[in-house]
Amino acid sequence: MAPPPIPLSDLEAQHAPLRAELEAATRRVLGSGRFILGPEVAAFEREAAVALGTAHAVGLSSGSDALLALLMASGIGPGDEVVTTPLSFFASAGAIARLGARPVFADIDPETLNLDQRAACAALAARGARVKAVVVVHLFGRPAATAELAAACAAGGVALIEDAAQAIGAARVGRLGRAAAISFFPSKNLGGFGDGGLAITDDAALAAELRLVRAHGAREKHQHLMVGGNFRLDELQAALLRVKLPHLARWTARRRALAARYRKALGGLPLALPPEDAGCVWNQFVIRVARDRDGLRAHLAARGISSAVYYPVPLHLQPALAPLGYRAGDLPIAEQAVREVLALPIYPELSDAAADRVAEAVRSFVS
Ligand SMILES: Cc1ncc(COP(=O)(O)O)c(C=O)c1O
Repeated sequence: MAPPPIPLSDLEAQHAPLRAELEAATRRVLGSGRFILGPEVAAFEREAAVALGTAHAVGLSSGSDALLALLMASGIGPGDEVVTTPLSFFASAGAIARLGARPVFADIDPETLNLDQRAACAALAARGARVKAVVVVHLFGRPAATAELAAACAAGGVALIEDAAQAIGAARVGRLGRAAAISFFPSKNLGGFGDGGLAITDDAALAAELRLVRAHGAREKHQHLMVGGNFRLDELQAALLRVKLPHLARWTARRRALAARYRKALGGLPLALPPEDAGCVWNQFVIRVARDRDGLRAHLAARGISSAVYYPVPLHLQPALAPLGYRAGDLPIAEQAVREVLALPIYPELSDAAADRVAEAVRSFVS
């Protein structure tokens, strides 16, 4: 008999033990008659700020909107330039372009796959005063190195914004820059039941600005102080996330244990492993396979093991951003990475035995 398939996540298994609590939370909201910016959002914001170690947390409608709202609250608009990474989900650059600003891509570090802060500093120096912000992405849950970049941003009056969509709970996230955007997309480390997001920051003025931005710029009904949007987290999402939040630390610990297990089992093979990092929360475990990555994917699939490519196209070569004028070859490290990266299953409910099966299947292909 074929062994059971190994998916990329198992939310059913995650939610089964929480079912009664999730249903009670749903009933509580349905019975309350409060669906928008009520007690659940307020309580979730308080609880998230405590859990994530920042002074403020502001519930927003998605990770994409959290990033957009942070850029809006930082005054980014037409004509401004924003330095960011070419290796990320589209939202990292899309949020910049939506505001009429120009994404300026700097290349990545080949080991961490995060924005190379030296390349970002060089872009800051080259573009001068046109650059108003940097969006650094903590890709796959790994905090980006930002010490030099943060100093350069501070010196130039440039806002350092963190895209922590994949990195809830990672070390110092939300404090490396001005603020961080977090996503509750279901596959994230803290997944909601639909879309949702959060901005975390120690900056009280920024948090207050975000509360305006998410409500069309209104503090009081029909008094619009600025042009914002409808970027609110729903009461229902907040109530459900409150059930899951207390389990996040345990789930993160399990992801870390699985990453250590993979690193041990895959050591010494002709592939590049993601570097060790005690602060990483392992939203993905991404290896680099220089020879026949797609062959390995097919080999795993034939054994019932899911894998994924994050991301197959670097952002500077996305058709939607063609007007920026980038060409193949402009960011060679990112362009090579997209040909080699492969994400293996990593989620808290993955058993040691299943992780060992994944590692053995990888080993049997590459060695
Ligand atoms: C790096 C990154 N940025 C932004 C987002 C956008 O988050 P959301 O899907 O909640 O809009 C995501 C996830 O989807 C992401 O992975």
